[in-house]
Amino acid sequence: MKYYVLFGPPGAGKGTQAGAMVARYHLCHLSTGELLRSEIAAGTPLGIQAKALIENGSLVPDQVVEGMIESRISHAQGVEGFLLDGFPRTIAQAQVLDQMLEKRGESVTACVSIMIPDATIHERIAHRAHIEGRADDAREEVVENRIQTYHAKTEPLIQYYRQNGKYEEIDGIGTIEEVQARIFALMDKH
Ligand code: AP5
Ligand code: MG
Repeated sequence: MKYYVLFGPPGAGKGTQAGAMVARYHLCHLSTGELLRSEIAAGTPLGIQAKALIENGSLVPDQVVEGMIESRISHAQGVEGFLLDGFPRTIAQAQVLDQMLEKRGESVTACVSIMIPDATIHERIAHRAHIEGRADDAREEVVENRIQTYHAKTEPLIQYYRQNGKYEEIDGIGTIEEVQARIFALMDKH
């Protein structure tokens, strides 16, 4: 099984690129952000717990997302691997993922990182705010907190995956098709 970590700051294009990636490589798409938003929409206890944190641009507790990923990895059938979109997002989550996969005799295949500068994050999220109506896109201070949270807690993962030779970065600037072609070129090698 392949285990791709789809990495990048808010608005980098992870969700946008995920569909074509799962289709081409027969993967199961697991986006912790999307899973959490459906828990919120369904009003589950987990959704109620996560709502305030997400709407202020903070991360939900590691254990919450780790549990969501573990149960889905163990139940998925008929796929050749997983595309983990927005997970892991802290060093602790990355370590738990490694342990989870080690128990199955598996490991992360590659960390596919889509990189854009902070100014582009603001532009893309401002654009998406009018289209998708996501609560965490609506206020500038929340977007800023997401960016700061990314730099403080998530960016250290670049070094984590570099150290074990799994880090693959692509330039996220360009058309959606150009970025997709860069991603396919590197995934074809794994
Ligand atoms: P999550 O849903 O993962 O949000 P995010 O990381 O902030 O990333 P986005 O979904 O905003 O961006 P994206 O990279 O998918 O960009 P997109 O393709 O949409 O997480 C939300 C929240 O949930 C977190 O803040 C946290 O609270 C919680 N959470 C989730 N996972 C967690 C975890 N593991 N641990 C703890 N908490 C967690 O593109 C953005 C826009 O740009 C779109 O409008 C798109 O059309 C456009 N666009 C895309 N590509 C291009 C391009 N090449 N050119 C021009 N425009 C483009
Ligand atoms: Mg997304």
